Amino acid sequence: MRTDYCGNIDSSYIGQEVTLCGWVNKRRDLGGLIFIDLRDREGLVQVVFDPDLPDVLEEANKLRSEFCIRLTGKVRARPEGQVNDGMRTGQIEILGTGLEIYNKSAVLPLDWNQENSEEQRLRYRYLDLRRPLMSQRLKFRAQVTAAVRRYLEDDGFLDIETPILTKATPEGARDYLVPSRTHKGEFFALPQSPQLFKQLLMMSGMDRYYQIVKCFRDEDLRADRQPEFTQIDLETTFLGAAGVMQITEGMIRDLFQKMLDVDLGEFPQITYAEAMRRYGSDKPDLRNPLELVDVADLLQSVEFKVFSGPANDPNGRVSVIRVPGGASLSRKQIDDYTKFVGIYGAKGLAWMKVNELAPGQEGLQSPVLKFLSEDITDALLQRTNAQAGDILLFGADNATVVTEALGALRLKLGEDFDLLEGEWRPLWVVDFPMFEEADGQMHALHHPFTAPRGLSVEALKSNPAEALSDAYDMVLNGVELGGGSVRIHDQQMQSAVFTILGISEEEAQTKFGFLLDALQYGAPPHAGLAFGLDRLVMLMTGATSIRDVMAFPKTTTAACPLTDAPSPANPQQLADLAIEVVKKNA
Ligand code: AMO
Ligand code: AMP
Repeated sequence: MRTDYCGNIDSSYIGQEVTLCGWVNKRRDLGGLIFIDLRDREGLVQVVFDPDLPDVLEEANKLRSEFCIRLTGKVRARPEGQVNDGMRTGQIEILGTGLEIYNKSAVLPLDWNQENSEEQRLRYRYLDLRRPLMSQRLKFRAQVTAAVRRYLEDDGFLDIETPILTKATPEGARDYLVPSRTHKGEFFALPQSPQLFKQLLMMSGMDRYYQIVKCFRDEDLRADRQPEFTQIDLETTFLGAAGVMQITEGMIRDLFQKMLDVDLGEFPQITYAEAMRRYGSDKPDLRNPLELVDVADLLQSVEFKVFSGPANDPNGRVSVIRVPGGASLSRKQIDDYTKFVGIYGAKGLAWMKVNELAPGQEGLQSPVLKFLSEDITDALLQRTNAQAGDILLFGADNATVVTEALGALRLKLGEDFDLLEGEWRPLWVVDFPMFEEADGQMHALHHPFTAPRGLSVEALKSNPAEALSDAYDMVLNGVELGGGSVRIHDQQMQSAVFTILGISEEEAQTKFGFLLDALQYGAPPHAGLAFGLDRLVMLMTGATSIRDVMAFPKTTTAACPLTDAPSPANPQQLADLAIEVVKKNA
């Protein structure tokens, strides 16, 4: 039907006849002449219809936005003054000599000249995806997956599929369940990840596995979370953490080089403990120069209980963020930040303005100054390296509250004060704790198949709270791009971890008996990692939500306005599945 893509016609085509197919992006009537921008996946090209060809001009008169047409014409240079160096086709235009209208278009329910609601965009997603920005993102995503496949295949990874109808994989979210018709009353779970199958593939001797694979998690959605999303999932045998990190860091570096011409350099590594201490987050955005500075040791004997309480409590934390230039903040602004940290449970946000660096406390202004001696304020200024014009913001509470509240405040201040430096700041976070305690129960920080770092079964059992895992997360600009770990390949260790997690032997058999069995037959040491492909493409394209790099995403309430899914099943389907629906209001 066509000879070329619209967006590919440049001055090398001048003098040639081309046939193009696409959509009318815009139409302008200029006294007898008709101009249209014709659009396809590759971009726009300008077409002009001239009164010298009256039949074609008459047909062109019928064109409206989003009509789908086939056009034949001659490529010529644009007249001087009309050249647009900003676009690939900007040097040329096409003189239309033949025109066929494939299909008219009703007026679109989306107005591309303004922001459309996300609900409306998702309802008419096929139209939303006609926008060059959206089609470019999908094209970019396809190029990323192609490059990833090439990289991993060149490195000996085999693409192996794993089941979608399966048993629960615990990655910390709720499962999506699928009822079985042949086993009434029983359910498949959609995989939260291929975790267990990829481990079994290592036990099968496949050595290096990868898959670009859908994962399903029923969890609260955010800008970087969807109920179904895609992982670049991989697993290796006979490699430890360093080996997996080397391969995957190499892959991301190669991808940025090829796709964006960006050299990410070597990724620094920091421990989980350091990340929480300095940045209040296990996925720190290193473009933000602000840090949390611990000052509990300076405040143990002050009169102000808000400070001295947590300063003397082994589970407490007292920290400061110094904001350069922050002394200009108004009371109202400080109150707003105080409310903001309140979301994270902080009971206040003590502050100290450093109006000038004067002797004693002359240059300082703070509601808590009366509680602090000169020695202490001197030490605080020194510890935080405070300069004239700065503000110090204090968090004092149990360590979890302070870390979370100041971690979130750090990000907000970074944005509000426009402090972000550099474009790309990747890093590895390592040495995670094996477990975290909540409601008197141990939970796996990664997943229950992660190996502890350098511990025997006995040592792990005797002090699980202190155990570190052999896990690693890759973080880029404050987003957790991927995470992985060395896996347990010893049945006793696996059973010990289940016991610590409060999973009884019986429950372990029911849920993971197949894995425990497999560990008996010469299971090799193995380790792996999974990236969130959607998050990776979101960052690389500068999109602000992973929904903008997925063709057909769900809304934040996990629904699809396009197809109206989820929707009720018909009574016969339910009867076949032996399922009765309890009405919400029944
Ligand atoms: P994890 O649960 O950390 O690890 O997931 C790996 C990566 O997947 C992405 N991700 C998501 N992206 C979009 N929406 C979601 N709801 C979502 N949840 C996770 C993140 C995350 O870093 N089996 C292990 C990996 C392993 O140990 O090899 C796993 O799934 O970018
Ligand atoms: P108050 O004595 O409650 O009026 O508090 C005095 C100052 O300490 C105010 O600026 C409060 O915002 C601040 N403040 C109170 N509780 C905390 C806390 N847990 N952490 C940090 N600052 C606090």
